[in-house]
Amino acid sequence: LHVVHIAAEMAPIAKVGGLGDVVSGLCKALQRKGNMVEIILPKYDCMDHDRVQDLKVLHETVESYFEGQLFKNKIWVGIVEGLPVYFIEPLHPAKYFSRGKFYGDGDDFRRFMYFSRAALELLLESKKKPDIIHCHDWQTAFVAPLYWDIFANRGLNSARICFTCHNFEHQGAVPAHDLKPCGLDVDHLDRPDRLQDDSSHGRINAVKGAIVYSNIVTTVSPTYAQEVRSPEGGRGLHLALKTHSRKFFGVLNGIDTDTWNPRADNFIKAQYSYDDLQGKLINKDYIRKQLGLSTSDPSQPLVGCITRLVPQKGVHLIRNAMYKTLELGGQFVLLGSSPVPHIQKEFESIAENFKSHADARLILKYDDVFSHLIYAASDMFIIPSIFEPCGLTQMIAMQYGSIPIARKTGGLNDSVFDLDDNSIPAELRNGFTFVNADEQSLNGAMERAFKYYKKNPEVWQELVKRAMTIDFSWESSASQYEELYHKSLARARAFAQ
Ligand code: GLC
Repeated sequence: LHVVHIAAEMAPIAKVGGLGDVVSGLCKALQRKGNMVEIILPKYDCMDHDRVQDLKVLHETVESYFEGQLFKNKIWVGIVEGLPVYFIEPLHPAKYFSRGKFYGDGDDFRRFMYFSRAALELLLESKKKPDIIHCHDWQTAFVAPLYWDIFANRGLNSARICFTCHNFEHQGAVPAHDLKPCGLDVDHLDRPDRLQDDSSHGRINAVKGAIVYSNIVTTVSPTYAQEVRSPEGGRGLHLALKTHSRKFFGVLNGIDTDTWNPRADNFIKAQYSYDDLQGKLINKDYIRKQLGLSTSDPSQPLVGCITRLVPQKGVHLIRNAMYKTLELGGQFVLLGSSPVPHIQKEFESIAENFKSHADARLILKYDDVFSHLIYAASDMFIIPSIFEPCGLTQMIAMQYGSIPIARKTGGLNDSVFDLDDNSIPAELRNGFTFVNADEQSLNGAMERAFKYYKKNPEVWQELVKRAMTIDFSWESSASQYEELYHKSLARARAFAQ
């Protein structure tokens, strides 16, 4: 198949969150399966240009319509992680993607609506006829209505559109007239069965538009796909998802097992594998010394947490886990920062208090290299999310033999299975889970984990080995997407006959 992904992020060159990891991980796996995969991204000034190979100008100008005018875009092409990537640089409106950051300005909606239209203009101009156009999150959600309402009439009509929502909290809902610049007919689309927002008057909703107009709609785990069918889980999109439930699927993400592999990780102190865990102890000893934690008891469990400190991640439970770890006689390392000023401030003051504590450190920044070391050094890993569409850290932690203590929600519920849950086959149990988003429930799970760790080292060793040998690679997820693509194309062919 010829598959074109249109996205706002791609790891490692333009990554803010898990979306970036998914775009590169899924595309690489689809390419390995023999598909022709291409990606279209904005040409951000702040992307990591060093990791783009053979970057060159492909078209000096491709014009795209916006706000009643034709604007010029310079199109670049380069190779990222072995994948061909097209970069759109708007020459005017200038500075849409050269602001030293990926998101966070008041006109994000306009910028990405512009990008979505320009990406389709590029496909048309370069006469590409992809089988599948796959877009991600609200930033590229407009590709679906633009494609069927405008571009299909201009001859771009070979493709089926797949839309993946990575988080229903972000929907791109704006006043209806804000839709106008991209050329879509507002009167025609501002209707309950089209783009009209179901929960706020006078607004249109980008993600709803993608649900209505795409041929395939997915989210990033089966459990989250269920949760979003409720008003609360779907943040108001539950009715649209119900209406379109026949094309809506939950596909669990994978992780990039080239990057996340303790046997071949150059960012850690000592490499190791499930059949020889010596290296894990070396990493633990190293990080404790580096952070100035007490090293008097080598068997003292180290609890890690790597996260963005945002309400979704269960900030109050993370704070609680810190104190509970100390109470249970463990050591705690947190890596992460917060875009929310009062949360960042609060954690800065806790970090300050713990500065010379023997058993806890808070490192309040995003540090990719150091994260590898925490995965490798820790014995347990805390993920108490309030909701979690998929979550990647629990899978990475398991690959490094760090046992997750996770809340049973979304993708965590599809990847972490409690050691004490007799309803689950013993060979699948790989961590500790809790149901309610409160301190007592988390404490209960932590107490059980510590009990096994301290009193039952053989069981713990088995658990670590089991977690490390689970296959979280992209292969099976990519096969599921391939199947969805093929089925949708087959339906279109059947319909055309
Ligand atoms: C979003 C979700 C996260 C998911 C990621 C990749 O960041 O919050 O749960 O793992 O997207 O799909």
